[in-house]
Amino acid sequence: MTRFRIALVLAGALASSAVAHAQQPSATRLVLDATQAHDTISRHIYGQFAEHLGHGIYEGLWTREGTGQWHLRDDVIAALRRIQVPNIRWPGGCFADYYHWRDGIGPAAKRPRMVNTIWGNAVEDNSFGTEEYMELVHRVGAEPFVVGNVGTGSLREMAEWWEYLNHPGGSSLADERAANGHTAPYNVRRFGIGNESWGCGGAMRPEHYADEYRQFAEFLRPFNDSTHAFRVATGPSGDDYNWTEVMMREAGRMIDGLDLHYYTLAGTWAKKGSATQFGEREWFVSLQRARHVEELVTKHAAIMDKYDPRKRVALIVGEWGIWHDVEPGTNPGFLYQQSTMRDALVAAISLDVFNRHADRVRGANIAQMVNVLQAMILTQGPRMLLTPTYHVFDFYTVHHDAVALPITVTAASQYAFGSDSIPAVSASASRDARGVVHVTMSNLDPNRAATVSVELRGVSATSAIGRILTAPAMNSFNSFDHPDVVRPAPFSGARVAGGTLSVALPARSVVVIELR
Ligand code: AHR
Repeated sequence: MTRFRIALVLAGALASSAVAHAQQPSATRLVLDATQAHDTISRHIYGQFAEHLGHGIYEGLWTREGTGQWHLRDDVIAALRRIQVPNIRWPGGCFADYYHWRDGIGPAAKRPRMVNTIWGNAVEDNSFGTEEYMELVHRVGAEPFVVGNVGTGSLREMAEWWEYLNHPGGSSLADERAANGHTAPYNVRRFGIGNESWGCGGAMRPEHYADEYRQFAEFLRPFNDSTHAFRVATGPSGDDYNWTEVMMREAGRMIDGLDLHYYTLAGTWAKKGSATQFGEREWFVSLQRARHVEELVTKHAAIMDKYDPRKRVALIVGEWGIWHDVEPGTNPGFLYQQSTMRDALVAAISLDVFNRHADRVRGANIAQMVNVLQAMILTQGPRMLLTPTYHVFDFYTVHHDAVALPITVTAASQYAFGSDSIPAVSASASRDARGVVHVTMSNLDPNRAATVSVELRGVSATSAIGRILTAPAMNSFNSFDHPDVVRPAPFSGARVAGGTLSVALPARSVVVIELR
């Protein structure tokens, strides 16, 4: 054989082995043990976040479209109702420590106009304030999650907002609320005491913030049994374990929720990378970094366990999601980004982690709900579209307030990229109030299908039905002209036989399976 022919034969053999490799599904084995269920998955893990930032509120939720007068968007509200949003964190974010609630009440024409110096120097007309936010949460069917101002506000200002929101009537502040159209108290419980107080909320050391926190928390007093505050303290940024240690030691007794923030980046803070123009390296790194939240949750929870072994204090992942460079041509301060199948997988991985740690993680808020960062919904004038992330939240409604069922990996096939690898499959499971078991599962590998077998213990099912979210490419996304490129479809790749659930998971997919 000539050297040329040998090269051809070798090249052919390599090519066919590459094809075989690409087509061969990897195998993962799991055990779902319903006999070991203890914890409930709080629906508040599926919380949202709406900050005065870019077009998150103005245009996204609150528009002049059609009537020329400011009003809430019916289309966006209808879509949010479908995913059963449990709470909406507002008004920030960094904006919260710059916001003075009195600017946003009373006749709109008299409200001051301020410059939103944190987010793009936009002029904020305060037309969306307390009453408008409360109408939003009411119409969405969510609970309020208000974040008060510690950074530039005062104790008195926060205590008075609390009274305005919750006093049943007869005080001047309650009367003012009635004059502004709402006689009944709003009964707000979830209340954040500052935001990122280690950074944009005041650049404080944990020792200093712990003292500030204790003071502010003391003045959120109940007016009756239904207004006991659920007080949320600024928690750590990512792996700042010292912050958690100091907060739990110095103020743990007065904390109901500790607010961890963690963003997934495909690149660096200076160069995050495009939301839509990326290759497999960025795909792999994004999913690998999304998985990192499990280590953060585990380690912060271990510190909390030392001070709070009964797990009274919730870990709230109050900001999470993937953060890309803004879309070309948009205001860099408005954080407007597209959302692809990669983002859907980041959401699925993160939500699976929160579900699996339901004993301690009892709240989370994806950043953010509309038109900002990893949004559920994008709007353009009167048009709107649902992102791939929206569909993941739709699938995961089955887990809201359901009993978490432990699901453990006994053999993990790997998704390898270069010399690195991560488990190819992510999953979580729960049993709802009707006794129905649901499993959510994703295949992180963009190229290869995965076969998954789940040994079912304590579950007597004979069939499985489901829905799938997948896409033609890693970077497929929904645009205003093509809003249904990434959309759910019925899933027929799951079977139950002999106490085993077998699933054929296509590459880059998320599924929800109902066992019957
Ligand atoms: O979500 C955008 C910003 O990210 C928030 O305002 C801030 O809390 C965080 O740093």
